[in-house]
Formats: sequence, C-alpha cells, structure tokens
Amino acid sequence: MILGYKGETMSNLHLLYLSRQDVEKVALDLPTIIELLEKAFREKGQGKVELPPKPGIHTQPNAFIHAMPAYIPSLHSAGIKWVSGYPDNPPKGLPYISGLLILNDEETGIPYAVMDCTWITAYRTGAASALSAKYLARPDSKTLGILGCGVQGRTHTEALTTLFPIERVYAYDILPEAQEKFIAEMRQKFPAIEFIGVSNPKAAVTQITLMITARPILDHPTPTIEKDWLQPGAFASAVDFDSYWKGEALVQIDRFTTDDLAQMEYYRTVGYFKETPQPYADLGEIVAGKKPGRLSPTERTMAMNLGLAMDDMAVAPTIYQRAKEMGLGVVLPL
Ligand SMILES: NC(=O)c1ccc[n+]([C@@H]2O[C@H](COP(=O)([O-])OP(=O)(O)OC[C@H]3O[C@@H](n4cnc5c(N)ncnc54)[C@H](O)[C@@H]3O)[C@@H](O)[C@H]2O)c1
Repeated sequence: MILGYKGETMSNLHLLYLSRQDVEKVALDLPTIIELLEKAFREKGQGKVELPPKPGIHTQPNAFIHAMPAYIPSLHSAGIKWVSGYPDNPPKGLPYISGLLILNDEETGIPYAVMDCTWITAYRTGAASALSAKYLARPDSKTLGILGCGVQGRTHTEALTTLFPIERVYAYDILPEAQEKFIAEMRQKFPAIEFIGVSNPKAAVTQITLMITARPILDHPTPTIEKDWLQPGAFASAVDFDSYWKGEALVQIDRFTTDDLAQMEYYRTVGYFKETPQPYADLGEIVAGKKPGRLSPTERTMAMNLGLAMDDMAVAPTIYQRAKEMGLGVVLPL
C-alpha cells in the first residue's frame, strides 16, 4: 500500500511538513496510541519488524542525538526519527527533547512527511509503559508513584489512567516548583484522582502498585531506590533507565523486561546498565504470547524500556493521516 504518494511523478513530488503545533493539534488519543503500539510489538515478537540499534552522536556531557529508523510491515510504516535530549536546555527555556521524524513510502522509499517528534516522543513513551503494565502490572492497581514531574511524568499519568483504576498518585520532583505545577495541572485534568506531593522518593516508591521513574538519564547514574522499597505485587517502569534504581533493587525484581533485548545489549557495550540484570523477555515476546507476563499477584515486575524507533513509526502514519484530514501542515516540494 502506498501511503504518501498517489499519482505523483518525478516533477511534482511533495511532502507534508507538520510543525510541533500541528502534531499537537492532531492530539491522537491514548487508547489509539496504545493499540497501535500493541500491534507493532506483536509483530516485533513475531520477528517481522526491522529495527536496527540506534546510532548516536554526543556533543555535550549527558546529552545525545540519536538516529532511529524502523519498518513495521503490517502498519505500512517506514521512517526515521532524529531526536536529541539535552538536560541543560530547560533552564535556558529550551526543550529537553527535540527533533524531526521522516516517513518514507514503503514501495518507493520516497519521503512523504516530515514532522516534529516532540509530541510523539512524549506520548508513545507513556503508551509503551502502559502497554508493559497491561501485561506485567496487577489489573486492580489503584496507586501510582511518579518520580520526576516533567513531560514523561505527565504523559505516563495520562497513559496509565487509561488502563488502570487509579485513585491516588504520589508525586516527587527534585524541584519543588515542578512538583507543585505538576500536581496543580493533574488535579485539574483528573479531578476524581487524589494527587499527593511527597518530600522524598521513598515515600512514593513504598506506597504504590504502579511506579514511574522519569528523571534525566545520566551517563553515571546516582541511584537512590533501595532493595525492599518497591513492594511485592508492584510494577515499575524505569523510563530513565537505571538512573534511579540501585542494583540491589533491580535484582529483586521477579520479572524484569525491556522493549528490545538487542538494544539493551548495544547499550551495555557503550557502558550503560552496569548493575542491571538480564531481562527474561522483551515486550514483543510477551505481547506475541511467546513469554508470559505477570504470573502471580505478589511478583515484583519492571519494564526498563529504552524507547524504540518502532514506537514512533507505529504512531506517525496515523498522525499524518489525521493531519491530512484536518487540513493541517504545509505541503513542500521535494
Ligand atoms: N525510555 C524512553 O523511551 C524515553 C523516552 C523519552 C524520554 N525518556 C527519558 O525520560 C526522562 C524524563 O524526560 P522528560 O522529557 O520528562 O524530561 P523533563 O525535563 O520534562 O522532566 C524531568 C523532571 O525530572 C526532574 N528531576 C531531575 N532530577 C531529579 C531527581 N533526582 N529526582 C526527581 N526528579 C528529578 C526535573 O526537575 C524535571 O521536572 C529522561 O531521562 C528522558 O531521557 C525516556
């Protein structure tokens, strides 16, 4: 199926450019994003997705610019995300995450869309954690902990409330003003949920059944979460890799997973995950039914998802199609 090009010839090739605002206006809903990711992970588990480990360049300490290509045949999605993460940007009034995503026609290889990738990165990451939780968390989970009240703290709260009957959220940020802002915003968005600010990470981790850690990823982690803080039966998603979790807490996890085993191995070769155990499965294997998810209500489970190009490519074509229907974006000659 040709998504981007119909009846165009060499002389009139065009692409659609979608700015950050255009993508935000599409505001694709989380149930759809989670569903698209589930399809993509099932196909990955069946070995059908092309997903090379991401190469990157590093112009500043703790910062990255990554190239993330993927092809998902069943979604007719082929493309690449070129994304940067610069932790020193926010104090300068600049975003931590920024970048562009290109979609290519699967039959001709010709690019048909370029879009800002900030929104997709924020939402697909929350949705991937929610999908992991669908298979690894207790379905009756009512309490959520958020460490790091930034963009990911927000999208994860939204994604998890889509799938779980959350009644109470414990939130912590190293910056009290970030924590207060998060709580005020979330109270407005989810008036039925109780949001409680805590003064240290332990107060959140010990009281919840769903845990999200989302502080900046560090080259040299300074973890604080200790053994026994996460309670039996709880699920955690470490969006910030091992930055928050001590090795002694990680080895206590009964079912430790990631989103792609090959990429975790690649990260190990460049110095990450020194105290991180070997996952028993990746999310694709679990969704495809090749490996089990949670087996008992008392298991401690965890997803340490690295963020895959496939997540972005699962979502981007639907954003493109909705944007076209809504008349958004600028058509540019190729
Ligand atoms: N694994 C993935 O797929 C994936 C995808 C996107 C982002 N990320 C990661 O998620 C993390 C958060 O990203 P974001 O876009 O939400 O960033 P952000 O800058 O919006 O939010 C980070 C928050 O963490 C807070 N913080 C800093 N140090 C802290 C600490 N020690 N304890 C508690 N809070 C602390 C900051 O004050 C800020 O509010 C980053 O590590 C990013 O690299 C992972």
